[in-house]
Amino acid sequence: MVELVETPLRDLVSTGSTTGTPGAVEARRGRSPVVELAETAPGRVGPASGSGDGSPTSTGEVCSEPAYTDWHVHIVQSSSSWPVRMRAVVYDRYGPPNVLRVEDIPIPMPGANQVLVEVAATSVNLTDWEGLRGTPMYARIGGLRSPARRVLGSDIAGRVAAVGSGVTRLHLGDEVYGDNLGLMGGFAEYAVAPESALALKPKGLSFAQASTLPQAGSIAFQGTARVRRGQRVLINGAGGGAGSFATQLAVRAGAHVTCVDNAGKLDYLRTLGADEVVDFRRSDFTRLEPFDLVLDLVAHRSVLAYRRALTRGGRYLFVGGSVRTLLRVVTVGAALGLLTGRRLGLLIARQGPSHFVPVADRVLAGDLRIHIDRTFPLDEVAQALAYVGEGRALGKVVVTP
Ligand SMILES: NC(=O)c1ccc[n+]([C@@H]2O[C@H](COP(=O)([O-])OP(=O)(O)OC[C@H]3O[C@@H](n4cnc5c(N)ncnc54)[C@H](OP(=O)(O)O)[C@@H]3O)[C@@H](O)[C@H]2O)c1
Repeated sequence: MVELVETPLRDLVSTGSTTGTPGAVEARRGRSPVVELAETAPGRVGPASGSGDGSPTSTGEVCSEPAYTDWHVHIVQSSSSWPVRMRAVVYDRYGPPNVLRVEDIPIPMPGANQVLVEVAATSVNLTDWEGLRGTPMYARIGGLRSPARRVLGSDIAGRVAAVGSGVTRLHLGDEVYGDNLGLMGGFAEYAVAPESALALKPKGLSFAQASTLPQAGSIAFQGTARVRRGQRVLINGAGGGAGSFATQLAVRAGAHVTCVDNAGKLDYLRTLGADEVVDFRRSDFTRLEPFDLVLDLVAHRSVLAYRRALTRGGRYLFVGGSVRTLLRVVTVGAALGLLTGRRLGLLIARQGPSHFVPVADRVLAGDLRIHIDRTFPLDEVAQALAYVGEGRALGKVVVTP
């Protein structure tokens, strides 16, 4: 039976062990669970030798007599022992899916304004595949030679299992979902996330469904925000996570929508309401009619081609693709657009509940649908990432611990 309590940290570690409160936390050496708690910065609670951001540590040492002040952490207490270790899918170098392995690692502790989420589902985004491979180069931001985060997985859904200091909106046991792109960690049994990244999960959505929305839904919501009835919209890479939502949002806005993806996804895109579908291996969309909006999730063409694809006053938005294309879009593309009455630029998707909750509301209202292609267990994260990265997924793929 699981019971939820609030326990001052110093009670848990007051005697140099971590068993100060009966049954709250058990810590033993050897093969048994070990908890590592230490003061990392004023107002924060975190692992003794970790990065200070709540990410897992690797040493497995019990720290002696840390100098706790008044900070509190909410602990999920069980009748036996706090599960201080968890299964997680980790990697230490960029590479193919076989660099991933399942490991038993310490559960991360939430810092100030962070919560610990017991993960029920994590959806796969192309950003996970890019973070695994370390390509495009922007996937190495914060970790040029080796990954900054050992555990991938940003779109999490689960229950709040512990909260750090300063958390006011969320409580133990709350069902939440959100995009944890900054800290990642979703391909594990527990993940730490900032409170600000999470929203309460609506009862009408399963954890798996909720996990599909934060990143893909936010990109789609912001990418189609200005679409108006009668406009001609093209979505490149429409059959994936963000594209599936963007297609539906543009169709609902009354646009004439052309979807580009591989041949195997075109029937699926018609079911989402696409007016036209294009196999990117057979046709170059920049040589079709001009569009009022091109939303490009997999950009790799020249800015001249993109300019050609736009009506006068039309807009091209780079969402993802090669760094070379990105740099050209923000330099030459922006200038070319100004000179020719078009706009070429980046969509830098803002994160947080206000950008994906409206999408969830539309799903609950029956206006949009979530397509989960496949669900994989935690042991098969490598297969799940390959399934998305190699382009076999229709819509979203979800991992459940
Ligand atoms: N700008 C931001 O703020 C921001 C934030 C987060 C993520 N992102 C980016 O958003 C992008 C979309 O992510 P996602 O999770 O929706 O990706 P996804 O689910 O993998 O979807 C991408 C789709 O594009 C298709 N595709 C691949 N190559 C193509 C080509 N040459 N022409 C047309 N379609 C092609 C893929 O199918 P096949 O592979 O089968 O061909 C797949 O259906 C990623 O690039 C990610 O880096 C941007």
